[in-house]
Amino acid sequence: MKIVILTGAGVSAESGLGTFRDKGGVWTKYDLQEVATPEGFARDPAKVIDFYNMRRRNAAGAKPNAAHFALAKLQAEYAHEIALITQNVDSLHEAAGSEAIHMHGAHGQARCTSCDARWTAPLVMSLDDACPTCSETTTRPDVVWFGEVPLYLPEIAIHLRTADLFVAIGTSGTVYPAAGFVAEASQSGAKCLEINLEPSNVAGQFDEVILGPATETVPAWVERVLAGD
Ligand code: OAD
Repeated sequence: MKIVILTGAGVSAESGLGTFRDKGGVWTKYDLQEVATPEGFARDPAKVIDFYNMRRRNAAGAKPNAAHFALAKLQAEYAHEIALITQNVDSLHEAAGSEAIHMHGAHGQARCTSCDARWTAPLVMSLDDACPTCSETTTRPDVVWFGEVPLYLPEIAIHLRTADLFVAIGTSGTVYPAAGFVAEASQSGAKCLEINLEPSNVAGQFDEVILGPATETVPAWVERVLAGD
């Protein structure tokens, strides 16, 4: 039974990283048009670089939580195929020992818009940073902004088509295409499970919804899967 998992900001919430749309979330404090769009970057690149420097600094002190570790255990011990897709730009899945498909990029990576080279971002990026490959000062955080196409979509589409079980964890079902993955997986015959603090915007499309904090619900679900339930 192939399992395809999609995670969102809720999986990192208990590691101290803010979600986007909950009370006090990132998009209640910052205007996403200003800091998370190509147009915002063209208007005020320093502001955007500073925003991601702040997020990278916050994430640098964060540790993976029980949900990240449980998913890493599942990836290591599950006898069948498993794919872990994340919308998160933090590296907490990797810190817990997982391999994740980062469809919205990673704020620990920098990218050159001239030659498309990617490299590990310094903790504090600057507009004067030169690309290590072509030396142009056309660098940006390697994250996907609103209006840009997420990464790895062809690979993800294959996973969704071949999933037997699709599980969305800690995501509000607001941002497409990720919010549409449940419909894609369901149309291909997968059973769909949502694990979230509260029902997402697309909760009605899942066969089952488990509510509660990810550090409790995810380890309990992983134990059930590994026990063959
Ligand atoms: P959101 O902030 O939209 O949603 C977070 C979800 O996590 C909500 O449904 C919460 O109920 C849930 N949640 C909060 N705390 C939780 C906990 N302790 N345990 C379990 N669930 C919890 O974040 P995302 O859905 O990830 O994209 O947002 C999707 C995309 O929008 C992000 O990748 C980012 C953002 O703008 C870009 O920047 C392109």
